[in-house]
Amino acid sequence: MSSQLKGKVAIVTGASRGLGAEMALELASRGAAASPIAELVDALINRIVQLPNSAPATGCKVDLSKHDGPTAVLSALDAWLGPSSHINILVNNAAVEVVKGLAELTVEDYETVYDLNVRGPMLLTQALLPRFSAADNRIVNIGSVGARCGFAKLSLYCSSKAALEGLTRCWAAELGGNGTTVNQVNPGPVQTAMLDNIPKEIVDMQRMRTPIQNRVGTVGEIAKIVAWLVGPDSSWVSGQVISASGGLELY
Ligand SMILES: NC(=O)c1ccc[n+]([C@@H]2O[C@H](COP(=O)([O-])OP(=O)(O)OC[C@H]3O[C@@H](n4cnc5c(N)ncnc54)[C@H](OP(=O)(O)O)[C@@H]3O)[C@@H](O)[C@H]2O)c1
Repeated sequence: MSSQLKGKVAIVTGASRGLGAEMALELASRGAAASPIAELVDALINRIVQLPNSAPATGCKVDLSKHDGPTAVLSALDAWLGPSSHINILVNNAAVEVVKGLAELTVEDYETVYDLNVRGPMLLTQALLPRFSAADNRIVNIGSVGARCGFAKLSLYCSSKAALEGLTRCWAAELGGNGTTVNQVNPGPVQTAMLDNIPKEIVDMQRMRTPIQNRVGTVGEIAKIVAWLVGPDSSWVSGQVISASGGLELY
């Protein structure tokens, strides 16, 4: 168990399950005080506080698709660490997908996807700006290989992740002055609840085209990439999008 994140405070959104839960656990196992944001985080918090390094953790149930989501996160942060506390790491992971062809899409579908996947990270990162430490902070946005692919019935989801790439590059340009890095990880298919909702033919095709063992990724493989990006060894990497897909998509 490494202690390279000891003394750092990390917020991971969408950490009740799937990739986000594993990321929060991985960062805590490297010493970070972790704050997973989502419903149902109690079991995860119990696992984190029982780690041998006694990493502190708290959770917060917030709907990040709502305007006032970030305010609730700030209140929870104040209650946990005090009003003048600082954070060092933000992982914008929470997201949803809608599987529908263009002809069936509604404004409500658009709002469901974009309010969480694009506006959510924007409002939360913006609200947390005054709370980041003075230097060397880390922001990681979780995208998808879908951002650069064309999959039938996934246009809202794929385009939302492409928009996130744009935010990532521009925030890297804006925030780098004090050593802060902003990067994006685009996973290929990983077995979580979200994958169960993706059309099987797309996942089968992706698995077949994946050079590494023709398989889907694991939550641990993605969490370790995120852990490297939020650690001290990635200080010269910013504005990048990393394809975490076993060679499925090459950037
Ligand atoms: N799994 C894959 O194959 C795959 C591939 C590429 C990219 N990704 C990306 O990886 C990230 C995590 O995906 P996953 O597979 O772990 O998804 P998941 O299993 O569906 O988990 C989604 C997480 O987001 C939270 N969430 C959903 N709506 C929310 C809202 N309105 N406000 C706050 N939190 C909300 C969920 O919390 P609740 O439990 O409270 O609903 C849950 O913790 C996403 O950005 C996804 O796009 C996944």
